Amino acid sequence: MAQVIDGKMISAQIKDEVRDKVAELKSKGIEVTLAVIQVGDDPASSVYVGNKKKACAYTGIRSLAYELPQETKEKELLDLIDELNEREDVHGILVQLPLPEQINEDKVINAIAASKDVDGFHPMNVGALCIGKKGFVSCTPAGVIQLLKRSNIEISGKECVVVGRSNIVGKPMSLLLLRENGTVTVAHSRTKDLKEVTKRADILIVAVGKPKMINAEYVKDGAVVIDVGIHRDAQNKLCGDVDFESVYPKCAAITPVPGGVGPMTIAMLMNNCVEAVEMRQ
Ligand code: GUN
Repeated sequence: MAQVIDGKMISAQIKDEVRDKVAELKSKGIEVTLAVIQVGDDPASSVYVGNKKKACAYTGIRSLAYELPQETKEKELLDLIDELNEREDVHGILVQLPLPEQINEDKVINAIAASKDVDGFHPMNVGALCIGKKGFVSCTPAGVIQLLKRSNIEISGKECVVVGRSNIVGKPMSLLLLRENGTVTVAHSRTKDLKEVTKRADILIVAVGKPKMINAEYVKDGAVVIDVGIHRDAQNKLCGDVDFESVYPKCAAITPVPGGVGPMTIAMLMNNCVEAVEMRQ
């Protein structure tokens, strides 16, 4: 029987650890503070932002919410970021993506002080990850590493295949697995014979954004399968990039959707807020 990796439980553990650290910092007079900026009212973004605020409340992190209208000008957002960069009492700044089309996402990511970039999107932090220096790591891939470690799954020396090469997941995921001494392959939409590549994996990480694309034919017997996708299927049920029913009988361990990688992203964001304070000290 495959192990079903419980992301809800592991993320709760991490949030409890963060809560303890936040309380300790508070006893020293430091109130860990995250500024969360949402521009417009995209329904999915509102759900994510709401969940981030809830996690802040749970862990004791002070959240400052900025809800800006859809028609906000780029300059207004950049000015707000500048002001938050300057504020001593703000440790982390998060701008929820996507942004309205009049605002250039790269400019916004670049404007956030690297030392407050708890999303780990700033080129300084991406570069630090690339050369093995300390910095903020994108929350979803950082969460995947925690799922593996806390499930006692060895990464060192293993064949790791990442399917997907996005800046937020695939690329940082591959760098983190490399940092953990995995042998890493990144596959993507132009990969020839994807099945042949994914079947080499001891650890297969799927972040392709296509519902139930990866079935048993893509998976080696006894592999560990991590599903980063989240979608609604034809019955309006949540599902991942992996066809769970098909893959489960073949693998050693697998993450479910929901309740796998999803809850880890916010737990790691909370953790990054504490790290923002620790890095400053
Ligand atoms: N939009 C979707 N995922 C994310 C995320 O992890 N961070 C931010 N800032 N926006 C997102």
